[in-house]
Amino acid sequence: MLLDGKSVVVTGAGSGVGRATALLFAREGAHVVAADLREDWAAETVRLIGEQPDTKGSGTAVRCDVTVQADVDAAIAAAVAGRGRLDVVVNNAGIATPAFGMLTEDHTAEQIDKLLAVNVRGIIFGCQAAIRQFRAQGGGGVIVNTGSIAGMVGWGGTVYGATKGAVNQLTRGVAVECAKDDIRVNAVCPAAMPATNFMVPDAAHGSQGIGDEAGRDVGSAHPLGRPIAAEDCAAAALFLASDAARNITGVLLPVDGGFVAQ
Ligand SMILES: NC(=O)c1ccc[n+]([C@@H]2O[C@H](COP(=O)([O-])OP(=O)(O)OC[C@H]3O[C@@H](n4cnc5c(N)ncnc54)[C@H](O)[C@@H]3O)[C@@H](O)[C@H]2O)c1
Repeated sequence: MLLDGKSVVVTGAGSGVGRATALLFAREGAHVVAADLREDWAAETVRLIGEQPDTKGSGTAVRCDVTVQADVDAAIAAAVAGRGRLDVVVNNAGIATPAFGMLTEDHTAEQIDKLLAVNVRGIIFGCQAAIRQFRAQGGGGVIVNTGSIAGMVGWGGTVYGATKGAVNQLTRGVAVECAKDDIRVNAVCPAAMPATNFMVPDAAHGSQGIGDEAGRDVGSAHPLGRPIAAEDCAAAALFLASDAARNITGVLLPVDGGFVAQ
């Protein structure tokens, strides 16, 4: 097991990449605080962890709005209260634009503020809380952020992409800041995934979605041609979170079937 006994927080763990990551990390022996705005979704993730055969790890659901610093701090505190320490934080919670590929000039000020609050401020709060705890423990620890290839190339919506570009740059900068304390910081950068809640109509988050057909097209618009799944991102996060990546920090790892390479 790659994360045997590790104490982990995953934000946005109630759906998609966050849920897949929580499930995989628990299978690999981690004790996961599944944090999400939707506590019922987080609770479902924890239920699914309990159903997995041969799962050595465990899950605890907490409600957490990553735009609220006290919520993020409380999620980290829950992990420390449960296991006495913190080993890994996956800052994954993120939101899409109301429509896929929305043009820059079409965004309202309110939509821009919301994207920045969740996708950028939320990740900064997650990094801050993790770093403080890691340093209080005497160093060590891993942060895995969920960026996006939309933060690397001009594709997928520019305002959304700008928030993910910020996540990508935050990842590199914090990695350099924290290397002296042996805190590693990397990002998983997915391409479009047709099968998470991110890309489907969702009243809770105000997304119109892009529809199944367009979702399939987007999902296969890369050299390998296979749609990208949340589980692919979870596998990348597992590698980065594990000791197998002990000398890897500041890396933006595309999970994109070669999209950026082309
Ligand atoms: N799906 C894609 O095509 C795609 C592509 C590139 C990057 N990403 C990134 O992957 C991450 C996960 O996306 P997903 O596809 O799993 O989406 P998803 O919508 O399936 O899951 C996102 C989760 O985050 C939660 N969330 C939303 N706002 C929150 C907040 N303020 N506080 C706490 N939790 C909140 C949601 O309730 C949901 O459970 C996001 O950061 C997203 O930007 C997704």
